[in-house]
Amino acid sequence: MTETKTKTILRALAGETLPTPPIWMMRQAGRYLPEYRATRAQAGDFLSLCYNSDLAAEVTLQPIRRYGFDAAILFADILLLPQALGPKLWFETGEGPRMETTTTMDQVRALKPVEAIHDTLAPVYETVRILSRELPRETTLIGFAGAPWTVATYMIAGRGTKDQGPAHALKNTDRATFTALIDRLTEATVEYLSQQVLAGAEVIKLFDSWAGSLKGADFDDFAVKPATRIIAELKARHPGLPIIAFPREAGDGYIGFAAKTGADCVAIDNSVTPEWAAENVQTTGCVQGNLSPTHMVTGGQDLIDATRRVVQAFKNGPHIFNLGHGITPDANPDNVALMIDTVRNG
Ligand code: CP3
Repeated sequence: MTETKTKTILRALAGETLPTPPIWMMRQAGRYLPEYRATRAQAGDFLSLCYNSDLAAEVTLQPIRRYGFDAAILFADILLLPQALGPKLWFETGEGPRMETTTTMDQVRALKPVEAIHDTLAPVYETVRILSRELPRETTLIGFAGAPWTVATYMIAGRGTKDQGPAHALKNTDRATFTALIDRLTEATVEYLSQQVLAGAEVIKLFDSWAGSLKGADFDDFAVKPATRIIAELKARHPGLPIIAFPREAGDGYIGFAAKTGADCVAIDNSVTPEWAAENVQTTGCVQGNLSPTHMVTGGQDLIDATRRVVQAFKNGPHIFNLGHGITPDANPDNVALMIDTVRNG
C-alpha cells in the first residue's frame, strides 16, 4: 500500500467502507473562528487574504490545528477564476461578491485567453505548494473550483442572486452567448484545477452551488455535461485523481450523477435526508455529507442526535462526514468540536 492510500479520505474515495468516517467541513476556515478573523484583518480584506499565499496557507491550517480534520481545503474562492479571465471582482462588506457583468458575445470574446489565467492565479498555486509541505502527513489536501454554471450565475448577474434569474434569462434568450460562456469556463476550469494538482492538491472538489435551479434538459446540459468534460480531462491528465462533485440541491439529480460525470464521490446537501441519500446515491459509490450547518449554531443534544443519524445512515458504505453546506459565521466553535467527538467516539 502506498503512503497516500493510508489517508482515510483517499480510502473512502476509493470506495472503502471505514469504521469511522473521515471528516472535514465546508468553509472550515472562516469567520466563526477568531484566529481566521485576526488573520483576515492582518491581510486587510478577504481578496487580499486569498492572494497572500502565506496567510491563505495559515488560515487553511487553522482548523486543522484546532480540530484535527482529516482534510484541509485550499483557502481561495470560486470567483478568483472568473476574475482571472478579466472581469473586476470585489466584496461589499456584509453583502457579498460583486463582479463586472458578462452578458454579451462581445464580452465573452473579450475575456482573456485561458492561458492567461495563471498570471493572476499563481499565488493560489503557491498556497497549495506551501500546504502540501506543511500539512500533517495524515491530512488530505483538497483543491477546488466552482462549476461553470455556478460561476456563470455570478458573472452574468454581477452578484449573488436568490433564483439565478439573470443567468436563466440569458440562457433562455441568447443561447449562443450563454453556451460560449459555459464553454470558456469549462476550459479555464480544467487548466486551473490541473495547476492545483501539479502544485500538490490530492483531491479536487467541484462546487455547483446553484445546480438545483437547473431543471430537466438544462440540468443535463449545464450541470452534468460541463462536469463530465472537466472530470474526463482532469483524469486523463492526472490518472487516479479523486474528484468530489457537489451539484447542490439537485434532488433526484443526485441519482446517477457520479456514474454520468465520472466523479468518485457526490456531496449531498440538507434538502434530502441521509437515509434517502444512502438508499439512492451511496449504493453506487462514496457520498459526502450531510449534517445541517444550523447545528453548528444551536449545538446541544440535537447536534449529537443529528450527527449520529448521519453516521448511522451512511455506515454501510463509503462516506466522508461533512455538513450539507458551509458553516456560517454565527456558529459556535465548541459545537464543531462536539460534532467531531460524536463522529469519532459515538
Ligand atoms: O471551504 C473553505 O473553507 C475553502 C474556501 C472557500 C471559500 N469560498 C472561502 C470564502 C470555498 C471552497 C468557497 C467556495 C464558494 N465561494 C462558493 C461555493 C460553495 C458555497 O458556499 O456554495 C461560492 C458560491 C462562493 C462565492 C462567495 N464567496 C460568496 C457568495 C461569498 C459571500 C458569502 C459569505 O459567506 O460571506 C464568498 C466569501 C467567502 N468565501 C468567505 C470565505 C471564508 C467569507 C469572506 C470573509 O471572510 O468575509
